[in-house]
Amino acid sequence: MNIVIKNGHIVDPSQKIDGIGDMVIEDGKIKEIISHKSKVKSQQKNPPTPPFTKGGSGGIKDLELRTINAEGRVVIPGLIDMHAHLREPGFEYKETIKTGTAAAVRGGFTTVCCMPNTYPVNDNASVTEFIIRKAAREGLCTVYPIGAITKGQKGEELAEMGAMRNEGCIAFSDDGYPVMNSLMMRRAFEYSKSFGVPIISHCEDLTLSEGGVMNEGLLSVTLGLKGIPSEAEKIIVYRDIMLAELTGGKLHVAHVSTEGSVELIRDAKKRGTPVTAETCPHYFSLTEDAVRDYDTNAKVNPPLRTKRDIDAVKEGLQDGTIDVIATDHAPHHRDEKLKEFDLAPSGISGLDTALSLSIRLVEEGVLTMSQLIEKMALNPSRILGLPLYGLKGMLRPGADADIIIIDMKKEVRIEASKFVSKGKNTPFDGWMLKGIPVVTISRGRIYEWQ
Ligand code: DOR
Repeated sequence: MNIVIKNGHIVDPSQKIDGIGDMVIEDGKIKEIISHKSKVKSQQKNPPTPPFTKGGSGGIKDLELRTINAEGRVVIPGLIDMHAHLREPGFEYKETIKTGTAAAVRGGFTTVCCMPNTYPVNDNASVTEFIIRKAAREGLCTVYPIGAITKGQKGEELAEMGAMRNEGCIAFSDDGYPVMNSLMMRRAFEYSKSFGVPIISHCEDLTLSEGGVMNEGLLSVTLGLKGIPSEAEKIIVYRDIMLAELTGGKLHVAHVSTEGSVELIRDAKKRGTPVTAETCPHYFSLTEDAVRDYDTNAKVNPPLRTKRDIDAVKEGLQDGTIDVIATDHAPHHRDEKLKEFDLAPSGISGLDTALSLSIRLVEEGVLTMSQLIEKMALNPSRILGLPLYGLKGMLRPGADADIIIIDMKKEVRIEASKFVSKGKNTPFDGWMLKGIPVVTISRGRIYEWQ
């Protein structure tokens, strides 16, 4: 099916497009963008024939054409989540590739990168192959697996990075755990450098964080819960910056939650260190106060921090220190989250809510819409080298037709029970937000909501 999206406010930072126009999609690819202001803004060099419009001549069967009126709506590239837990294989009771990608599409994501802490761990090519095959069969959007750095994520022996890379892993991470052994991490940087892919580091000094379940401070003492000091994150951020400098390997810091980490990354970038970083909506939306009533839905690792950390994270997003907003989508079963705070697993189900929560940054004036798209689509694509796989995160002619249409004015009430994800574990239940995708086009397939 060919598609024309008419009269939308098209924003694409990759081409510096920000204005009203139409978009033509042919054979699952973007064909052209026609700006209403200055005639044709962006067109494929050799546009394929026959023309997409109805009424083709003599004997040539007309292609089916769908017109979408996007007047009053914003048309942007499909979002790329470079940090999600799809839980399959092994934890299908929490999420599957099918349900996770369905939640992604509902939330405006057309590409999801899945972390390797499955069972078995994605630490070898056969698990990678399984994920890729399953995603091709059942996924509603593109899925790229992230391979483990060490076997079983145990931090003792390097995983088969080369074989996983050949099979389709686009980065390596032991997410959920840090690689505590610095020599092991050094070797990981050296190998990943030869494949040209980033190491995504879960920065947590386990010797400092052990037993901790929330941010360390007055509140943790008051609640009688063991705290995790922000230094547990900062120490490993610093070590990994040092290792990236030593090896020249690409470091991507996962889920930045503290002021100290933002400062270290900012300084490292100034020195030219090959480092990029992400944060997640909960780290700029909630403080540690969210766990005051022992709400396990607000238990996450790294933990929610303080107002000061939130301000630093926002500043980092604004000045470019933090390149990416990822979800860290971590669905868990209700029964697990019903355990007492100390025993409940960490994680927030994020795919259904990430965009609406992030749009608040635009309303607050922290980011422009174009910058938000950079953080949620263009920068992940660049960091992961996705242009090599078909253009992603941008609306350039020839790119995959991964597009979302957002109603920025529509008020939405977050209702966990209605999440598409199996994971209903969110601390945002009942929040009123503005802005939600009304159409997601994933590789040319249209999904629509009222
Ligand atoms: O809160 C978290 N949950 N942080 C992680 O690093 C892992 C994740 C999970 O897999 O549940």
